[in-house]
Amino acid sequence: MNVMRTKSVEQSIRDTEEPGHQLRKHLGALDLTVFGIGVIIGTGIFVLTGKAAGIQAGPAVALSFVVAGIACGLAAVCYAEFASTVPVAGSAYTFSYATLGEVIAWIIGWDLILELALGAATVAVGWSEYFAIVYKAVFSSEPPTWLVGTHHDFAAAAIVLILTAVICIGIKVSARVNSVIVAIKVGIVLFVIVAGLFFIKSGNYHPFVPPSGTKGAPGPAAEPSLLQDLGFGAGTFGLSGIFTGAALVFFAFIGFDIVATAAEETKKPQRDLPIGIIASLTICTALYVAVSLVVTGMVKFDKMNIKAPLATAFEQVGHPNFGTVVSIGALAGLTTVMMILMLGQSRVFFAMSRDRLLPTVFSAVSPRFGTPIRTSILTGVVVAALAFYFSLGTLADLVNIGTLFAFILVSIAVMVLRRKEPDLERSFRVPAVNIIAPLAVLASFYLMLNLPTKTWLRFAIWMVIGLAIYFLYGQRNSRLNANRPGGIDSRDEFIRDRDAAAG
Ligand code: ALA
Repeated sequence: MNVMRTKSVEQSIRDTEEPGHQLRKHLGALDLTVFGIGVIIGTGIFVLTGKAAGIQAGPAVALSFVVAGIACGLAAVCYAEFASTVPVAGSAYTFSYATLGEVIAWIIGWDLILELALGAATVAVGWSEYFAIVYKAVFSSEPPTWLVGTHHDFAAAAIVLILTAVICIGIKVSARVNSVIVAIKVGIVLFVIVAGLFFIKSGNYHPFVPPSGTKGAPGPAAEPSLLQDLGFGAGTFGLSGIFTGAALVFFAFIGFDIVATAAEETKKPQRDLPIGIIASLTICTALYVAVSLVVTGMVKFDKMNIKAPLATAFEQVGHPNFGTVVSIGALAGLTTVMMILMLGQSRVFFAMSRDRLLPTVFSAVSPRFGTPIRTSILTGVVVAALAFYFSLGTLADLVNIGTLFAFILVSIAVMVLRRKEPDLERSFRVPAVNIIAPLAVLASFYLMLNLPTKTWLRFAIWMVIGLAIYFLYGQRNSRLNANRPGGIDSRDEFIRDRDAAAG
């Protein structure tokens, strides 16, 4: 059986026209940028900055953000070219189906579950850290242990289930709610930057790059990275701390690629997708560098709170009320991140099911709401369970490795598509593709190497499970499988079949 079979770009686009399996087109460039910022700014900056500064990089965490931002920028231009060429739901999954073949597409789709479903769970756990601070401010006591805590995070699971209900009602409502919340979130980030400026002590920046082996903030020590276990990294702080910090805060950038998952719901995807992806990424990078410089100037890195660092920084300089305001803003802001990640996940499941790599029941669109309601519910329940049980660090590292791997495959795919389909219309082209795309691959791979060895092992297990499912189910049932009853092996056959069915 040929696992390298690919679905053509034209076929991917035609599939979206199948009756009963279509999404509404109503988003523009501004919607996409807001959508992007809505998902990008989240637990990464609000929570992980504390860990990266406190136990990995010190004030040089600002450089970690620059490093991660550069890696994402390189991958972002590759995503933008793909998104402007193959404007259908499913993001990297669909792009790779059209270029690298079904098995790679499946690997990417499976890998995207790490980014999207696990990403949403990670953000939910970050949400509950800020929820605990607001709870304390309102009730003047710690939240009860049954409500918040590792392995029994009821608050995190509850917020996920509430958002699932919102998603099922329809993306239009979600997008409107999203723009209001994005405004609040950007406002809070600017508030941290501006108000925090008044509390900066220049002494906190010395040393800007703490030497290797420095004792960091209280809390569990950083796990050794693969590079370190292989004998190439010096461990925490120092130069290598900047890179392990970058591999962690990479999480803060996740989301620009999700803009591409909304392709099918975009009015002019060829123009609007590249604008949405690049604009949202640029704005967020600037904000992150500013926030991390301000916060590490307010609080010495070894005193940094690793759970809710932005709010706690204000408590530490004697302004707990500012901290409460930041926490309320964070709660609102993290809410949209979860929502969009879950929305992205249900769209990827939707696309995989439409191709019959997953059961078709998941690609049925509800006639009443115009959304793939079953996939949304499945996504919500899985995410709630993950958020209930797993710790934030474990989840974030796994999300990062999965996403970086998807970036590598997408950057390779952009080069393959240039060779295979040179004449295909592309409204956005990666400049100097033979330099940028390989650099995107190398940068993502280098960040992967800076993630813990344990994360690599978990990732390998996840991939093996995924391949087993593909060979036992997906490959046999795929729409492109000529060997199954009703299967097809070419685009022409597919179109013939469909026209015949339409009478
Ligand atoms: N980038 C998103 C966040 O930081 C996923 O929460």
